[in-house]
Amino acid sequence: MIINLPNLKQADVRDKKIFVRCDFDVPMDKSSIADDTRLVSCVSTIKYLLQNGAIVIAAGHLGRPVGEDPKFSLGTVAKWFADKFSSTLIETQTGGFSGWKINGNFLILENLRFNPGEEANDPEFSKKLASLAEIYVNEAFGVSHRAHASIVGVPKLLQHFAGLRLLEEVKTLSGVMQDPKRPLTVLIGGAKIETKAPVIKKMMGFADYILVGGKIADEVSNIQTNGHTKLLGGKITDHGLDITEESVLEFIDILSKSHTIVWNGPLGFVEGGHSESSIKIANAIINSQAYSIVGGGDTLSFLRQEGFIDKFGFASIGGGAMLDFLSGETLPGLEALR
Ligand code: 3PG
Repeated sequence: MIINLPNLKQADVRDKKIFVRCDFDVPMDKSSIADDTRLVSCVSTIKYLLQNGAIVIAAGHLGRPVGEDPKFSLGTVAKWFADKFSSTLIETQTGGFSGWKINGNFLILENLRFNPGEEANDPEFSKKLASLAEIYVNEAFGVSHRAHASIVGVPKLLQHFAGLRLLEEVKTLSGVMQDPKRPLTVLIGGAKIETKAPVIKKMMGFADYILVGGKIADEVSNIQTNGHTKLLGGKITDHGLDITEESVLEFIDILSKSHTIVWNGPLGFVEGGHSESSIKIANAIINSQAYSIVGGGDTLSFLRQEGFIDKFGFASIGGGAMLDFLSGETLPGLEALR
């Protein structure tokens, strides 16, 4: 599936205010950023816009806050950008939004999910966001599977373009979908049960094998396979925080025969030190003959910490978005750009 999206480089951005929807949803370790891959991924678009005389209003979300919970403030993310752009952070207000000035032409808004209008895709909230700018840029592939105000509402109201990293994600993942080398194995772990279980079902039409670990491994027996015999749930260890060695060996056997591997979500509770199975699986993928794609905030964070990240074919910043895209779903955020 080749998707043609309007390229940011076609936009006349000089002296224009640009609303850039970014992937600010980084994994946090207490109050510090555990992995900044998603932040790094928006830098080329922001730099391109600033170098071409635009004014950047960057916005995004962090986590799943209920109300204005300071634990989910984007202050730490704004500080990261201030350091990156060698400037000092100044709190600011604009058009009824709080945020931070990084410099005269670049500001960052506070967590969009502090306003219930974001997830509800409230047209009034979209209007309020759109009133801040003249052009919209989606640089948030990782959240393009959500029909939220800043993803689908704002582009309806403004001239809209795809960011540079988003274009790269779509190009690479489309290439994989078009003619993947088979067998193709999808490995799914992680904690977001409600997002992942439907994705497992959707993947059945695309993958030759689906291997499931993490919190969702137990759920696999409840998933109707409709004759899909290649769905395998890892057995959970007695302590409940990883999958068993036996399951790891079973998974490795399949991975070693695969020619394309897609991985999202650690297989055990890696933040709590239960990373044994994920490390073994990462090594098996790296040592296999397969073209490999890994994606998702926690997965990238884990692989970077272990020094593995550069050993995979492509690291997508999308977790759920990457799986949805590969399963052939139309992502609302991409549709809104067409
Ligand atoms: C992600 O990390 O997958 C995106 O930021 C979307 O987050 P969500 O699952 O909370 O909507």
